[in-house]
Amino acid sequence: MKLVQISDIHLTVPGERMGGLNPHRRFAQALDDVRTQHRDAARIIITGDLTHWGEPAAYATLVDALTDLPCPVRLLIGNHDDRAAFLAAFPDHPKDAAGFINYAETVDGTRLIYLDTTEPGTHAGHFCAARRDWLEAELMNCARARLFVHHNPMALGLPAEDKIALVPEDRASLAELLSTYRGRIDYIHFGHVHAPVHGTWCGISFASVRSTGNQSLPDLTEQELLQGAPMAPSYGVILAQGTDTIIHEIPFTWDGPIFCAGTKWDDWAKPVAAE
Ligand SMILES: [Fe+2]
Ligand SMILES: [Fe+2]
Repeated sequence: MKLVQISDIHLTVPGERMGGLNPHRRFAQALDDVRTQHRDAARIIITGDLTHWGEPAAYATLVDALTDLPCPVRLLIGNHDDRAAFLAAFPDHPKDAAGFINYAETVDGTRLIYLDTTEPGTHAGHFCAARRDWLEAELMNCARARLFVHHNPMALGLPAEDKIALVPEDRASLAELLSTYRGRIDYIHFGHVHAPVHGTWCGISFASVRSTGNQSLPDLTEQELLQGAPMAPSYGVILAQGTDTIIHEIPFTWDGPIFCAGTKWDDWAKPVAAE
């Protein structure tokens, strides 16, 4: 099963830039690359910060962009989103009984769980009792699961970034739940950080992907300010086979030279210098 993870597209009202770049162009480039390179993907999963400021006009551009795709798209919201504006733009989008954008589906024997950690008025993530109940029911009733979420649930050793991770009191609740079901959770995939970070948490492997816009720098000492830079974007291609996971970063804006080399021993032989 191939899954494409795109994250933090931060779409604006048309004409407005985001961090000095055109987020619509970047998102279109990423989708074009998926159309040409990954037509066999089972899902395209966009892990939040769909818009930069949550305006209806920004969501309208997302509706328009999600056409002619090789597979279904799954959307998560993030701290830069507005749940009501999102649902107005996607009125048939699934949500749970409490109104959160929580939903799940079984693909190729694995429960793909899309968890909403957004809370109005804060950039930090939340996981309240209602969301806990929803997630527990999902985990209880599945054989295997893969969790997609916007916020990094765990602290990452980045003091400023960690201030907008899942809040510590909710983190403990999620950690307890995931620890209980770790045997059936293959991976945690998230966005929000605008950088690739990998590790394990509660005994479960996790990975984040870059933004299609600007990237963050991993500053392990800065206490207050997030460090960002216009570094190259990428999206993720997740190859999920049984309980195994392989993740590739796809540098979809690269337009420089590409060198080709064979894999035979002789192909890498040092050329004989001309006399
Ligand atoms: Fe973001
Ligand atoms: Fe975010």
